[in-house]
Amino acid sequence: MTDKAILTIGDRQYELPIIRGTDGDQGIDISRLREMTGMVTYDPSLANTAVCRSAITFIDGEQGVLRYRGIPIEQFTEKPNFVEAAYLLIFGKLPSHAELKDFSSRLTENELLHEGLKHQYQHIPVDAPPMAILSATLSNLACFHPQFLALEDPESFIEAAARLISKVRTIAAFSYRRSRGMPFVYPDPHLRYCANFLHMMFSIPYKQYIVTREIEDALNLVLILHADHEQNCSTATVRTVGSARANLFASCAAGVCALWGPLHGGANVEVIEMLERIHRGGMTPEECLRLAKDKTNPFRLYGFGHRVYKNYDPRARILKDASEKVFATLNRHDPLLDIARKLEELALADPYFVDRRLYPNVDFYSGILLRAMGIPTNMFTVLFAIGRLPGWIAQWREQHDDPTSKIIRPRQIYVGPPKTDYVPMERRSL
Ligand code: ACO
Repeated sequence: MTDKAILTIGDRQYELPIIRGTDGDQGIDISRLREMTGMVTYDPSLANTAVCRSAITFIDGEQGVLRYRGIPIEQFTEKPNFVEAAYLLIFGKLPSHAELKDFSSRLTENELLHEGLKHQYQHIPVDAPPMAILSATLSNLACFHPQFLALEDPESFIEAAARLISKVRTIAAFSYRRSRGMPFVYPDPHLRYCANFLHMMFSIPYKQYIVTREIEDALNLVLILHADHEQNCSTATVRTVGSARANLFASCAAGVCALWGPLHGGANVEVIEMLERIHRGGMTPEECLRLAKDKTNPFRLYGFGHRVYKNYDPRARILKDASEKVFATLNRHDPLLDIARKLEELALADPYFVDRRLYPNVDFYSGILLRAMGIPTNMFTVLFAIGRLPGWIAQWREQHDDPTSKIIRPRQIYVGPPKTDYVPMERRSL
């Protein structure tokens, strides 16, 4: 196959190198295009632009395939272990027993928050959005751990990564406790990653929360399924901020802000609110679809559609099955699961959704599973962020270690006024 693309502009031809990946999309390297032709490419929202080469996550959106470091996502579901998946994403290989033990010990050693950071919670309004608290506190870690602002050696990097992955749970659980006016529960070093988070969320001073194996596995699964998703909006944000050589804490805090949006990670909250509205009788599933199709209304069928997947998101399939299993184990029933199934059935038979190839994405069923664990709706996107952190760290590091990477600085096509003279105030007409 040819390794050059030919671009014709007027009567001139330009050769552009083709960049080949190991799987999936191949690219045309236009990095010298402006220098060669005086022109830039126009790709609003970067829908058709590869901004980097990455060896972390592979998606085939046509086939509904997702792999972490080459391993299909489905293979993480048998005995889900989020810490192991985080290690794989960040360090590029499955850990040995000793490596996993060492990484887990680092997580345990770093689970406490500096008391100065903890005191800051007292000054935050109780109804503050947990995503705002999360991004502010992650950014604030830079004040308390300034030794990790420059990560020039592997030991500082692994230590900074462990601090972030460990402390994010404590930060998240404390924000929930603050919102409920409940005392903070310190982490328990004897508990595993997910059990420890649930303990900090739900234990009370006189009653320890006991996590069941099913719930612990389900949380591990949810976090793994959110752990990375190549160049999505928040990851692209982390890379953009990191490309200016901003520190890891600041870059991940920026990722949280991007994730908060309802078209991205915030969609898991919108989905539950939509399902609850239907459950309350505020609209029927049919009306919900009608509203989503109405172009004069900003409402969308949340949890449906994806920039890359033009097929069923494999994470949605796993989460749907897991929700059904968890409810069966708990011997409970959630009417929102029935409504979600119904909406899915209607949408997948509706020409609007079929023609546009809109399928359930990760957010469609994740909230239902989180509800089963007792996680309140306003913490859903925070849970997404806890899961996504290893991906952000891995992507930040990949870019940081790439000697060819430069500051991310897109171009534009200017459509404002041509050169215009300044008019002094007294000569301006009304
Ligand atoms: N409901 C109704 N219509 C939709 C939906 C939806 N959920 N998603 C896409 N469409 C329509 C668009 O209106 C557009 O229609 P048109 O061609 O008539 O103008 C067409 O399908 C293509 O959609 P785009 O918005 O161009 O797709 P894009 O790739 O820009 O957006 C996105 C993807 C943001 C995920 C979109 O599908 C959406 O808003 N979904 C709902 C929010 C959501 O679930 N977000 C979570 C995504 S997964 C994640 O970030 C973790």
